[in-house]
Amino acid sequence: MKILVIGGGGREHTLCWALKKSPHAEAIFCIPGNAGISQIATCAEIRLNDHAAIGRFARDHDITLVVIGPEAPLVSGLADMLRAEGFKVFGPGQKAAMLEGSKSFAKEFMRRHNIPTAPFQVFTDHNKAVEFALAAEGSVVIKADGLAAGKGVLLPNTPSETAAAIKKIMVERAFGEAGTKIVIEQCLTGQEISVMAFADGRHFAPMIAARDHKRIYDGDRGPNTGGMGAYAPTRIIDEEIMQQIVDAVIEPTVMGMHKEGIPFVGCLYAGLMMNEDGPRVLEFNVRFGDPETQVVLPLLKSDLVEVMMACADGELELEKIEWSDEIAVCVIAASRGYPGKYDKGAVVKGLDSIDNKWTTVFHAGTVRDAEGIIATGGRVLGVTGVGISYEDAVAKAYGGIEQIRFKGMQFRSDIGYKAGVARKSGVKRGQGARFGERRKR
Ligand code: AMP
Ligand code: GLY
Repeated sequence: MKILVIGGGGREHTLCWALKKSPHAEAIFCIPGNAGISQIATCAEIRLNDHAAIGRFARDHDITLVVIGPEAPLVSGLADMLRAEGFKVFGPGQKAAMLEGSKSFAKEFMRRHNIPTAPFQVFTDHNKAVEFALAAEGSVVIKADGLAAGKGVLLPNTPSETAAAIKKIMVERAFGEAGTKIVIEQCLTGQEISVMAFADGRHFAPMIAARDHKRIYDGDRGPNTGGMGAYAPTRIIDEEIMQQIVDAVIEPTVMGMHKEGIPFVGCLYAGLMMNEDGPRVLEFNVRFGDPETQVVLPLLKSDLVEVMMACADGELELEKIEWSDEIAVCVIAASRGYPGKYDKGAVVKGLDSIDNKWTTVFHAGTVRDAEGIIATGGRVLGVTGVGISYEDAVAKAYGGIEQIRFKGMQFRSDIGYKAGVARKSGVKRGQGARFGERRKR
């Protein structure tokens, strides 16, 4: 069958790469794709909010299955439109995508279904929000209700930062309409992990738990990014804890959505804080995580096309999903300046010497021009290493990324070290690998 993937980042490169391994995949198409994706799929420049043009493209290219990578087209209803036209779609409809599209919807849904999460209140009035936040015991987290490209969560440290955070979202409208409403919730502590699950509306299959590294600098310092690296599986999760997560979070979410008449089909992502009280949901995403996908899908032994078709057809129950018992580590190379305003246009060198069975380069923000591969994104690419131990996977990922060079390239030198890998001297430090910044929290 012919498959269309929507999106153009590292997640979508990984999706195309994993789908292509299937004997069912006759051809892969990607809108808009990137330089790496174009090596394995036919890419087309269509704007993601032009749903009609995407539908036309899918019809013209005789597509059977559409896999939607990013949240924005899901939240704006692309999956519903394509389903109505008869395509098989991996990705939730607009209403189910509210789990990510509206933080107040997600929090109230969790309250209705007794899913563990931080205590919270929702506000549309700026003064009431400030009054509540300043009177709250302990630290609070301020979240813009709507989509804010991963930037809408603020973690203030002092009363004046708290007031400024609320003002930034509700008055200055730093995230536009996303800030009409806010969620104020208790700040939780513990270890963060990401658990994703395939879902067909009624049934689900959890994937291997992953750990993302959100901060820009080594030692989890500096501002949050889209994710500077990841590894899977996480060491803190054994079978018993995974079962606890499934029972407390994944199952009640999938069943709750089903009962409310908005079945969830696609990848359900739960961002969790783990502490002695068990898992607490920090956020839901309605799509694969980036860069978690780059470490989870390389460990999938089953045929991804079959799994996704089973989700689209409501037949996931019949699928037996198998995972490798290896370890995967992904290190992201970012442009100078990221996650702020970043450089664009550097020529990426050294890519040819890397790809092999155990080390794979997934492109995120790249285009190809006459000079070669050009870095155009904040996150430029990620190198995933797969090994028989954390040490082995870390060595493969770093062995790969050290072959790559572009002007202003920065990467963290401690990805995977939370899993207990001893830091090796001789690991080349990325530019971002600084300890100078004072840790705030
Ligand atoms: P999000 O943009 O929704 O992915 O949230 C960004 C990050 O904010 C999360 O990955 C956590 O690190 C942090 N965060 C969100 N909610 C809380 C909370 N209640 N307590 C502590 N940290 C949080
Ligand atoms: N890695 C977190 C996310 O994809 O939102």
